[in-house]
Amino acid sequence: MPIRTLRPGRAWALDGARTTFALAVDADGVVRQTYYGPRLGPDDDAWLACADVGSPDQVAVFPVMRGAAFGSMCLRLAYEDGVRDTWLALRSGRVEDQGARLTLILADEAYGLEVELGFRPVETQDLVVRDAVVRLLRGRAVVREAATGALGCAPGAGHRLTHLAGHWAGETQIRREALAEGRKVIGSDRGLTSHEHNPFFALDDGTSGEEHGHVLFGALAHSGNWQVTYEKPPAGAARAVAGLGPEGFAWPLGPGDDLVLPTFVHGLSLGGFGAMSRALHEYVRGSVLPAQNRGRVRPIVYNSWEATYFQVNDAGQRRLAERAAGLGVEVFVLDDGWFGARTNDRAGLGDWEPNPERFPHGLEALVEHVHGLGLGFGLWLEPEMVNPDSDLYRRHPDWVYHYPNRPRTEVRHQLVLNLAKAEVAEFVAQTLVRVVDRYGLDYLKWDMNRPLTEVGSTLGAPDGVEDGAAPLRHVQAVYAILDRLRARRPDLWIEACASGGGRVDLGILARADQVWTSDNTFAVDRLSIQEGYSLAYPANTMDAWVTDNAQAQAPLAFRFHSAMCGVLGIGADLARWTDEDIETARALCAVYKEIRPIVQYGRLYRLRSPCLANGQEAALVYVAPDGGEAVLFAFRLWASGMQRDRPLRVAGLDPERMYRLEVSGDDGGRVLVAPKRMSGRALAHAGIRLVLTGGAASALIRIRAVHGTDEGREAGWR
Ligand code: GLA
Repeated sequence: MPIRTLRPGRAWALDGARTTFALAVDADGVVRQTYYGPRLGPDDDAWLACADVGSPDQVAVFPVMRGAAFGSMCLRLAYEDGVRDTWLALRSGRVEDQGARLTLILADEAYGLEVELGFRPVETQDLVVRDAVVRLLRGRAVVREAATGALGCAPGAGHRLTHLAGHWAGETQIRREALAEGRKVIGSDRGLTSHEHNPFFALDDGTSGEEHGHVLFGALAHSGNWQVTYEKPPAGAARAVAGLGPEGFAWPLGPGDDLVLPTFVHGLSLGGFGAMSRALHEYVRGSVLPAQNRGRVRPIVYNSWEATYFQVNDAGQRRLAERAAGLGVEVFVLDDGWFGARTNDRAGLGDWEPNPERFPHGLEALVEHVHGLGLGFGLWLEPEMVNPDSDLYRRHPDWVYHYPNRPRTEVRHQLVLNLAKAEVAEFVAQTLVRVVDRYGLDYLKWDMNRPLTEVGSTLGAPDGVEDGAAPLRHVQAVYAILDRLRARRPDLWIEACASGGGRVDLGILARADQVWTSDNTFAVDRLSIQEGYSLAYPANTMDAWVTDNAQAQAPLAFRFHSAMCGVLGIGADLARWTDEDIETARALCAVYKEIRPIVQYGRLYRLRSPCLANGQEAALVYVAPDGGEAVLFAFRLWASGMQRDRPLRVAGLDPERMYRLEVSGDDGGRVLVAPKRMSGRALAHAGIRLVLTGGAASALIRIRAVHGTDEGREAGWR
């Protein structure tokens, strides 16, 4: 039983395989975290069940303004009479759902406010999945700030923060910093998850590494404005509070109304950042991603964006599809430029009908041709957007976010449709359903290329309350449309994109199967973007294309190897590829099909970091769930690095088994690997000798357990 009741209705322990998270109510009715650490047994139940009023070491799980309570809060609201504090106290605590969920009801009895908190332990991955709903039973109130929960860090620990920061074409860069007393806030006020910050964080005492040390971590399932506040007081436990972004937020509550907060998942790794990532990967793959496609290997996609940009036409796309089919690609995706007057980025968004000059036979003929080649067909849409130069905008200029008496801020010459309005959201939903049905799409790329500005219904009350609700309503509408598409077409592959990786979070990953990681397709830059991505998100969600970008710096095999670390796709102009390129690509696509179950569903061990070490090399290995096979990728990024005198130790294999090593798809024999046969123990402790020479160079090494009779034959050095 992962949830143990320590004192009925008053204290509980949520056990993972290796950890315990305990909470108990104090004499004031405040529920506090009494412990988060390595798993404890029943001998310690007595003290785990004790919470002290006002203890600075025992962080409240849902801190609110109440008397002498200070610091970062989960809820700030104003009741209609102007009262601004919230005397929440535990009304009931029950283990529900056949022991799977602890449900706490906190209540501010004087005002009919209830907060329902849910805690679900995920035993195998040592995670706790939390949800929260704020409900008003009578009267009125406006919520100005709301977070799903607070997480306490043991005193003395958790003083180094690891998070992901970046920018367009440089997303998910790993940042590590020591935290001093005070508050550190990361978040987004852009109406989408953002390129700048990602709703994931990890805390350790400054000594944890990839495979050792304790790491407390969390991630938030929300694709709109979000915020994680880390607060370290001069004395007592530090806390992290994760929830909605407060910037301009206002959520009106009337009798019976509620505010559903984003899911917040947190965990404690006792095995460093590597075990943290593997726990999150397993959780995302097994419990977050859309159920229908969970466990399906992702197809190899060809996307024509970088090949043709806006120069799209029927004949050109057919030619690309034919060449892609020859490589072993499985889905052809027609990107931007196929619709309306979209011959550049100044026009057409919103008019989702094929451009008749570019597609005189409609898209149906192209779809048929692509299907005839044995490929699935996919389309790019940017459903939340409109160009002012579009028929849709001319018909409905009031459908976009804007303020009266102000210019309508354009980004990439486009405006955002006001999905907070039900009629606009319904129009967008119907448009998408029509397009998906009409072409029988196998794949949908849902893009979102600008942040939200001037957000509000524009019809809201002068106090701005309706406008303050709009960013959240927008995200809820996006989710609802995606859910509707899913229900209609369960097998549809959905890729989320926001100018690359601007919308990467557990909320979108509950609806999209995969995300476009970055518009930066330079294979060397990609390695650090992908490493940051891998801290929280699994490889089967990480789209990566081989393109012609910076081909002079990185040979084709390198570009393939970099993309093969995730969901391989191809985005190059295949018309320009030589016969030799085509041959290399065909062979590597075939290799990818063999290894993708391991890459997409295996356990990741990061061996050498392109971000954190000297920035000259990278190595990672994916190990099959049964430990019988692994795929190792190694890269030398620039002219030096990957030195012969530094053995590459390979974590994650079974120490008791013998493995055979085989270099696959190297480029011109520039890779030396020896020996060819080693035990998992030797691979972990002695490592392999791997020499990559030249400039940017790479190796893909397949590591397979040797069975019985193979053993003798495989001995020796290459
Ligand atoms: C965004 C996406 C790209 C491509 C373009 C099309 O930048 O990230 O992959 O789809 O839009 O305009």
